[in-house]
Order: sequence, then structure tokens, then C-alpha cells
Amino acid sequence: MVVAVLLLLGLGLLEAEGRCFFNRTEEHCVCYNLSQESITSIIQCLPASVVEFWGGELERYIAFPISDLDASAIDMLGSLVIRKIIFGDLLVPEILLARVLRFFSYTQVQELVFKSCIFEGRGNWEEMAGQNLPVVSLHFHNVTSAPLTGREQDFSSLSSWLETLQELAVTGSHLTSLPCGIGRVFTALRSLDLAQNSLGDESVMLAFCKGAFPQLQVLSLQLNNLTSCHRVCESVQLLPELQHLDLSQNKFMADQSSSCQWPVSLRIFNLSNTGLDEVLTPLPPSLEVLDMSCNHLHAVDISLSSLKKLFLSQNMLQALPSIRNYPMLDTLHLDNNSITELPWDEVKLLGHLRDLAAAGNPYHCSCSGAGELQALAGRGHLGQGWPQGYTCHSPPRYQGRLVKDVPVSVLQCDAAAVIAPVCVAFILLGVAGAVCLVRSRPGLIRPCCRA
Ligand SMILES: *[C@@H]1O[C@H](CO)[C@@H](O)[C@H](O)[C@H]1NC(C)=O
Ligand SMILES: *[C@@H]1O[C@H](CO)[C@@H](O)[C@H](O)[C@H]1NC(C)=O
Ligand SMILES: *[C@@H]1O[C@H](CO)[C@@H](O)[C@H](O)[C@H]1NC(C)=O
Ligand SMILES: *[C@@H]1O[C@H](CO)[C@@H](O)[C@H](O)[C@H]1NC(C)=O
Ligand SMILES: *[C@@H]1O[C@H](CO)[C@@H](O)[C@H](O)[C@H]1NC(C)=O
Repeated sequence: MVVAVLLLLGLGLLEAEGRCFFNRTEEHCVCYNLSQESITSIIQCLPASVVEFWGGELERYIAFPISDLDASAIDMLGSLVIRKIIFGDLLVPEILLARVLRFFSYTQVQELVFKSCIFEGRGNWEEMAGQNLPVVSLHFHNVTSAPLTGREQDFSSLSSWLETLQELAVTGSHLTSLPCGIGRVFTALRSLDLAQNSLGDESVMLAFCKGAFPQLQVLSLQLNNLTSCHRVCESVQLLPELQHLDLSQNKFMADQSSSCQWPVSLRIFNLSNTGLDEVLTPLPPSLEVLDMSCNHLHAVDISLSSLKKLFLSQNMLQALPSIRNYPMLDTLHLDNNSITELPWDEVKLLGHLRDLAAAGNPYHCSCSGAGELQALAGRGHLGQGWPQGYTCHSPPRYQGRLVKDVPVSVLQCDAAAVIAPVCVAFILLGVAGAVCLVRSRPGLIRPCCRA
């Protein structure tokens, strides 16, 4: 059994004293710097569904003899409930990985994660040819390895497995390119996360060449080195199933007068913090979620009839976007803009609105302005930022005060509207009194003002 565990984990033999901690309620086991002596500690992890291994160096075990498994070891691997394994802070010789990986085919591990690992050398992946693994999600974060260029042969040996992979993430790993051929191997991939790398426009063009990632639905290129929205659009145009695209935290140059059409399948589009000073057009018509927060937008005049969530915080908007253009909107975020009022007549057109956030704007606290905000808050639309995030910028007497504290009773807001009827009432009373007096004088018989 121990042999099987060693093979499965490939790193039961780490130097330094270490041990595992098993949390039964979470079915989660974390092991630090395991050594051969503390190997029994691993055994307590066997009922876990998630196991983490942190620290150590595997280099010494490159020559460790790994033979084929006997039937009982295979049964034992098959009975493990482990679904996810995380390796962290490790030096991983690729040769060892290549030899151990095939044993995963006997397990039910679906998710493999490598964090802060250094992959060394190049393994021989030929033995993996034709092998299928149950692993459908593969995540690398802050890893270093030999460049991927020129390794098409390795990827083709792994292709029976990679063709079934659904999720791949290579994040925070200084990736500068992804050869075109690689994308063509991942024929079933649904989600690709390449956030926090150094991919430029050219490398994205290359990575999403014709036939690459044909089933991709979710793509993140957040925080890379992209500068041309037009080029990115041309690259992802070839992804017919793309539904969710995250381009946030790139610095796009002003080339928005592009005629490139984003995939019509796109539903969620994140353009937050990308240096936009104008809305990109044309936007895909079926968008449901659009994040353009943290840009330099002065106005947003687009029409998207399916849009449900619009994030525009941290821009330079001076007015509410025209709400008629978004009949389905349920979420609208407008914090930290230059908006002076939120007219209720317009907001109420949003029949589905549940979440409106507009703190940090320079509100004009006229009676009606403050009153409208107070009414919105009263209906529960303004959420968490109310009341502390909503302050008056003008008129001078309310500057710096909370909108909530501006008196908006009818008497204060519209004195004329109150005083005129009061005067009329007084006058009428006076007239009635006079009439009564005149009428009653003759005999004082009938009571005054019967009606
Ligand atoms: C296990 O995890 C739960 C939930 O995070 C936590 O409340 C509990 O304290 C943990 N148990 C141990 C023994 O660490
Ligand atoms: C990234 O991984 C390296 C080892 O490759 C490690 O020294 C470094 O601390 C890690 N950085 C972060 C932010 O985790
Ligand atoms: C980002 O791209 C520019 C040119 O587009 C290049 O000069 C620069 O070196 C790139 N930066 C990184 C970190 O790759
Ligand atoms: C867009 O990306 C930013 C990070 O860059 C993230 O904070 C934000 O939640 C994302 N927006 C949506 C709607 O997912
Ligand atoms: C608005 O700005 C304030 C102050 O700069 C900041 O603390 C807050 O996080 C911002 N809110 C949003 C939603 O960007």
C-alpha cells in the first residue's frame, strides 16, 4: 500500500522532517516536507478528497525505481477518494513526473494543481502515448519550466489525455508565448486562464491560430502585455464558442475605431482597467455582463438589449447612461464617477433593477436631488455604500454632508407648493366665516355651515 501511495504521490520521500494534517470535516489533508520516516503520516490522508503537498525537492529521486503496479496496488489506487492534489514549493524533475503521471490513470483524481514549482529538464513522454487520465483540470501558478516552443512532440505524446482536458490555467508564470500547435491539441478545453503573464498582441495572435481551442468558452488574459484591442479581437474571433472573455488590467492604446466583430457567442466581457476612454464598438449584441470599471469613460451611449449587469465604477461619467437602452438590467455600478444626480424617473424604468451602487459621486443636494436618492435608498436599491458613501458636493450649505441628512420634507423642498394651498384655505375660511356671520345675524336661528 505504501508503495502505491509513493507512486501516486511521487514525492513521499522528501527531505526534512514533516507531517500531514488531516481535517476530517473538510476532507482536506495538508502535508509539509514529508520524509521517509514520517511516511505513515500520509496514510491518514487516504480518506481525504483534497491533498496538498508543500515543500521539498524531488531531484534526488530521479533514479527511484518505479516498476509496473500489481493488481492489488491498482485496486487500492482505484479505491482512493482523492479528487484534487496540490503540489506547492517543489522542484519537480520532469523525468520523474513523466514516469509517475501514468499511474494517475488508475485513480479518480480530477484536478492537479502546481503552485510555485520549478519544472526541471525535459521528460520522456512517449510512455504516455495513448494513455487516458481522469484529470480534467490542470492548474499551474507561478511555475517555471523549459520554454514550450519546440515541444510539439511531447504534447502529441500526451494528446490522448490532453484532448479530454476541460480546464487549463497557467497563471503568474511569465509566459510570453503559446505555440499555435498546442492549442490544436486541446480539443475539448472549455476554460483557459492565462492571467498574470507577459503575453503580447503577437503571441495571442499566434496562440489562437485557426483550429486552436475549438471548444473554448472561458478565456482570461487578465494582466498581460496586450496593447491592441483590435488585434485581440481578431485573435479571439476564431473561437466560435467563447462566452466569457476577461481582458482586464491590460493597457490598450486608442485604436477603438476597429471594425472587428467579437464572437457573437460572448456573454460576459471584462474590460475593467484597460485604459479605455471610449466604449469599444461594436460590442457583441448578446452581452449579459459588461465590466468597464476603472477606465476614463466620459459617456456610455450603447444599446444592449440583453445586458443584465453593467459595471462602470471609477470612470468620468457625468450622467446616468441612458437606461432605456438596457431593459433587462438588474445590476448597475456607478461608484466614483462625476454624476450629480440619479433621477428617479429614469431609474424606475429599470423594472429588474436589484443592485444600484453609486457612492463616491459629487451629488447636487437640491431638495429633489437628495430626495430622489433617499427614496432609492428607501426602496433598498442602494445597497452597502448607503449612507456613508453618498455625500453632497453642492449647494455650498450642504457640501460634505451625507445625502441622508439633507432635510427633504415637503415644507422645505417646495414651500410654494405648500404655502399656496394654505393661503387659499385661509382665504376660503375667511370668506365662509364672513358669509356665516352675515347669514346668522338676522335671527341666529340656524346653525352655521351645515355642510
Ligand atoms: C476543519 O475545517 C473547518 C472548516 O474550515 C474548521 O472549522 C475546523 O476548525 C477544522 N478542523 C481542524 C481540526 O482543523
Ligand atoms: C513563486 O515561486 C518561487 C519559486 O519558484 C518562489 O520563490 C516565490 O516566492 C513564489 N512567489 C509567490 C508570489 O508565490
Ligand atoms: C510588453 O510589450 C512591449 C512591446 O509591445 C515590449 O517592449 C515589452 O518588453 C513587453 N513586456 C513584457 C514584460 O513582456
Ligand atoms: C473583472 O476583472 C476584475 C479584475 O481585473 C475583477 O475584479 C472583476 O470582478 C471582474 N468583473 C467581473 C464582472 O467579473
Ligand atoms: C471609490 O473610491 C474610494 C476612494 O478612492 C475607494 O476606497 C473605493 O474602493 C472606490 N470604490 C469603487 C467601487 O471603485
